[in-house]
Amino acid sequence: MDRKRTSILISGRGSNMAALIAAAAEPVFPAEIALVISNDPEANGLKMAVQNGIPTRVIAQKDYSSREEHDAAIDAALREHGSELVCLAGYMRRLTAGFVEKWSGRMLNIHPALLPAFKGLDTHAAALAAGVRIHGCTVHFVTAEVDAGPIIAQAAVPVLAEDDDARLAARVLKAEHRLYPLALSLVASSRAVLRDGKVVHPGRNPG
Ligand code: GAR
Repeated sequence: MDRKRTSILISGRGSNMAALIAAAAEPVFPAEIALVISNDPEANGLKMAVQNGIPTRVIAQKDYSSREEHDAAIDAALREHGSELVCLAGYMRRLTAGFVEKWSGRMLNIHPALLPAFKGLDTHAAALAAGVRIHGCTVHFVTAEVDAGPIIAQAAVPVLAEDDDARLAARVLKAEHRLYPLALSLVASSRAVLRDGKVVHPGRNPG
């Protein structure tokens, strides 16, 4: 089986990264993890990647004089490792339009809300403030506009009366850990493809 070489960009804890690494440890999973890149040398996820035998790189913005140069260094590292797909997993830095364009249709992001609701940060507090009864997470292709790319997959969780930010976040995070491997497997096996700005499912019976 042709397993797609996939690299992961993180900035912190790395629990979604760990879920992707665990899924890709199965030989039948259609992606293998080639590299983990962090923009923060202190990111906890880096240690976890090393423990799993995954190559890691720290590419910190402070070492570059512009966003373009920073993203060019990330692009070079991705290519050195033969990356075919890129997963943003809690990567908390905005990417330049040029970089996003280069990886169009091949770069995924996970967002802790049911997009297009609750873009940006503090999504769980926003969901509680809005009083929604259903919340969740979204995996989408990355486009230049933040949190607005075509949606690959979503998972919903209930919002319970006794929820606070932390309880709701924990329930959504569990769903994220199931959803991201599923979405990556759809893209890596070409069962979800970006075409003309939309996600299509080649081979799926329209009936
Ligand atoms: C996750 O909840 C992810 O959805 C979110 O950051 C967290 C990272 O956790 N991403 C965003 O908010 C991106 N806009 P993790 O490092 O444990 O995977």
